Amino acid sequence: MADDYHQLRDAAPPAPLGCPVNHEWSPLNEDYLVDPYPIASALRADGPMFYAEQLGYVVITEMVDILDVFNQPEVYSSEIVQDPVFPLGEQARAVLAAPDFNPQKVMSNRQAPDHGRIRKYTRQGFSRRRLQTLEPYVRRRSGELIDDMIASKAATGEPIEFIDAFAFPLPGETVFRFIGFPEADDERLKHWCADRKAFSWGRPSEDEQAVIAEKMLAYWRYCRAFTATKQANRGDDFASELLAAHEADATDLTYREVESILYGLSFAGHEAVTALICNCLLCLLPRRDQWDQLVADPSLIPNAVEEVLRFESSQISWRRVTTRETELRGVSLPAGTRIFMNFASANRQADLFDHPDEFDIHRPNAAQHISFGKGMHYCLGANLAKFEAVLVLEALVDRLPSLRMVEDQKIWSSPNITFRGPEQLLVDF
Ligand code: HEM
Repeated sequence: MADDYHQLRDAAPPAPLGCPVNHEWSPLNEDYLVDPYPIASALRADGPMFYAEQLGYVVITEMVDILDVFNQPEVYSSEIVQDPVFPLGEQARAVLAAPDFNPQKVMSNRQAPDHGRIRKYTRQGFSRRRLQTLEPYVRRRSGELIDDMIASKAATGEPIEFIDAFAFPLPGETVFRFIGFPEADDERLKHWCADRKAFSWGRPSEDEQAVIAEKMLAYWRYCRAFTATKQANRGDDFASELLAAHEADATDLTYREVESILYGLSFAGHEAVTALICNCLLCLLPRRDQWDQLVADPSLIPNAVEEVLRFESSQISWRRVTTRETELRGVSLPAGTRIFMNFASANRQADLFDHPDEFDIHRPNAAQHISFGKGMHYCLGANLAKFEAVLVLEALVDRLPSLRMVEDQKIWSSPNITFRGPEQLLVDF
């Protein structure tokens, strides 16, 4: 069983001496989940760091400190980034105690020097060439899903639930093609890969935890069987590249690491992109003039996607833990201090972005957001995520220029500390 899932949120360490304490705020507070941005700005106005008693983390609010933390991986370790925020119940622990559930930490929570050893192989796999090989697939699938939306509208006259119809299937299927999973397996793969954000970053019930754990186990077993089959059936895909690298030097990239990389990518490449696609619509459709500009001139789309990632990112925080005593903003942080980097705050800093609370597809420095992290763990899929969002918007402005959101719908994100995107989005055209 992977050690990530053993880790419970142990008794929160006390506030570091001299660090201001906030007794009330938590990223799971209802008002923050509904609209984090005014609250994040108010927290930043109060100061660059504080100890959030409800969370047991030191929260940092300014870009300069977030960059500092990202750039010192030997002091601020990423080993906790996948750990569940809330303790796992007995049932989920029992499921993941299966003797064959043994994925390894391979990327986001793996430390130097192993991280660099593994990342050199994964980085090669995310080359421009590989993205280009995906382009026809993403264009074709986007077109087919839009055809289905049009047919459904013609048949029922009813609005479309965009996540089921488009934003959930497309990113999953894209990452499955990238890895090399056969299309015939898509439905069960999508089933197994859903709800992962709730598991580590949310507060699922014990029953829900157990259901998600079952899916994780099933998906891990699938990845192992798939890797074994792939040995004999190579293709032009990421899994084949990893296996070739393993064969070239089996001590530098182990077989279990290959299996574990494939296992890890499903989550990384899935829910955050679904949310990004939806957040694009949430930002653009109500600002009709900006949507219409994209319809008239699709070359504006790439910068519009950067602005969505700044203004309404699908990932609004990330975590680190100190490996030794260190000092930040004059406060001494003991080893083991957990740090919560508040991207929602930093992405809206007025000293970095003019009129930060305005959404502007022409913003010249939109791409200076922190939503993909920085430094040695910088998001491996950043280009893939942006490339998908751009292709999707190109298809939507072309095929459905009259797309609009259904009025008066309640937009809500499932409660979690990091990922942000609607759970349901009704659109019409
Ligand atoms: C909008 C979508 C996405 C967002 C906002 C996002 C954000 C992030 C962030 C903040 C990190 C952590 C950086 C750090 O710890 O320093 C990260 C890491 C990572 N992301 Fe993404 N990501 C997205 C999509 C993807 C996709 C599509 C993939 C792959 C298919 C992917 C794969 C990864 C991997 C493998 C890592 C760990 C890299 C490492 O540790 O070397 N991500 N991502």
